[in-house]
Amino acid sequence: MSSLVCVGGQWGDEGKGKIIDALSANSDVVVRFQGGNNAGHTLVVGGQKFVLHLIPSGILHAQNRCVIGNGVVIDPEVLLQEIELLKKRGFLKDASQLMLSPHAHVIMPFHKRLDVAREKASGTRKIGTTGRGIGPAYEDKVARRGIRLFEILDRRRITTRLTDGFAHAGVVREEELPGMIDAVYRYGEHLKPYVADTGEFVSDALESGRRVLFEGAQGAMLDVDHGTYPYVTSSNCVAGQACIGSGVGPRHIRNVLMVAKAYTTRVGEGPFPTELHDTAGDELRHKGGEFGATTGRPRRCGWLDLVQLRHAVRIHGATELAITKLDILAGFEKLRVCVGYEIDGQTRRSFPWDEEEVARVKPVYEEHPGFTELPATAKSLRDLPSEAQRYIEMIADQLKVPIGIVSIGPARGQEMILRELF
Ligand code: GDP
Ligand code: IMO
Ligand code: MG
Repeated sequence: MSSLVCVGGQWGDEGKGKIIDALSANSDVVVRFQGGNNAGHTLVVGGQKFVLHLIPSGILHAQNRCVIGNGVVIDPEVLLQEIELLKKRGFLKDASQLMLSPHAHVIMPFHKRLDVAREKASGTRKIGTTGRGIGPAYEDKVARRGIRLFEILDRRRITTRLTDGFAHAGVVREEELPGMIDAVYRYGEHLKPYVADTGEFVSDALESGRRVLFEGAQGAMLDVDHGTYPYVTSSNCVAGQACIGSGVGPRHIRNVLMVAKAYTTRVGEGPFPTELHDTAGDELRHKGGEFGATTGRPRRCGWLDLVQLRHAVRIHGATELAITKLDILAGFEKLRVCVGYEIDGQTRRSFPWDEEEVARVKPVYEEHPGFTELPATAKSLRDLPSEAQRYIEMIADQLKVPIGIVSIGPARGQEMILRELF
């Protein structure tokens, strides 16, 4: 049995796509198990940039079967655009490379409308969503009135679902319905060749010893149960969700690779203890190109936060760490790392359960010496300046999790794989 769950350790955008691209050179199956096209996973291969929102980041290695599991919410229009774009660029030549779960829920046009309208109306409780309809689609799923992918393959079925007892009559005008039914059915027809029993496929792959990578979207602190609620996404992003969102049992999961940037970023609203509002924050944003891969919004930037990461290690059950964007820290004279939270005069090392307390945190920082440019060809930690080595070792010591990968550039190959991961 050979599987690896790869998940985000912060507020998303940790570089999961790049890490999955690197690992999927040696995998057979790559599975997305939650989220939707709120995700933007960037890969840089042969000088070309690819931003994937729904299709697993293993798609550029032709031997992988890429699965979108039942836990994902699919905007069919976006998925079809992504398929077309990949085909145009010479990938996804064989349709059997992509498989879609019939039980993935469909993001409908009214979900997007609702997402945007609710954000506008939510005053100080604004979340800063991506506006892609993610929350409303998951709401319908849990309310047991969602539309699953296989239902849009059948015109009769989709017509019934959008007319009989239709819950969103308030946001969809009656005269819009025929056009909406036509459009969704057309998308369904195009997606039909990819729909298959993905749960059975992934289980069989695991049973027969094939190498399966599970690709998380978002990150620990955006998890609807364990993150900074209500400033989170509407799915579980923790490693345990890999089972639920793909239809396999927990006995198949042993290794969990948690990806974390060498500093911290967040897009959207919500508390962020180590956020910087000074020139150091601007420097991280500009050097790191910290602008959202999905919405283009500037990402909020701050120092590494070990209190937050310790929480993330626990909720994911991380067995290895991938540290990305170490190169972006080069040139800072001193690096600050948050080792404790001061809240109302008391210092603590655990993440508070009340988001209002998180908003009042004064980070307790430890200073570490900075380092100069990293050699682009570094292949082992020994090739890095000693201060950079010590920074990485400090993270592993503090979190008590070994480092599996260190990434020092956006392009394929600009990473050191330090141990066998799966
Ligand atoms: P994801 O959502 O976790 O896949 O991350 P994103 O793709 O949204 O954001 C990560 C950004 O950092 C992308 O622009 C990547 O190309 C880039 N990136 C990933 N790893 C590294 C790295 O080690 N160094 C640098 N400089 N950029 C990186
Ligand atoms: P990847 O997979 C960073 C954030 C949004 C917002 C909150 C809720 O690329 O790491 P939603 O549209 O999901 O209802 O928005 O979650 N968010 C992300 N931030 N990376 C992501 O995905 C994100 N997906 C959602 O900015 O704050
Ligand atoms: Mg991203």
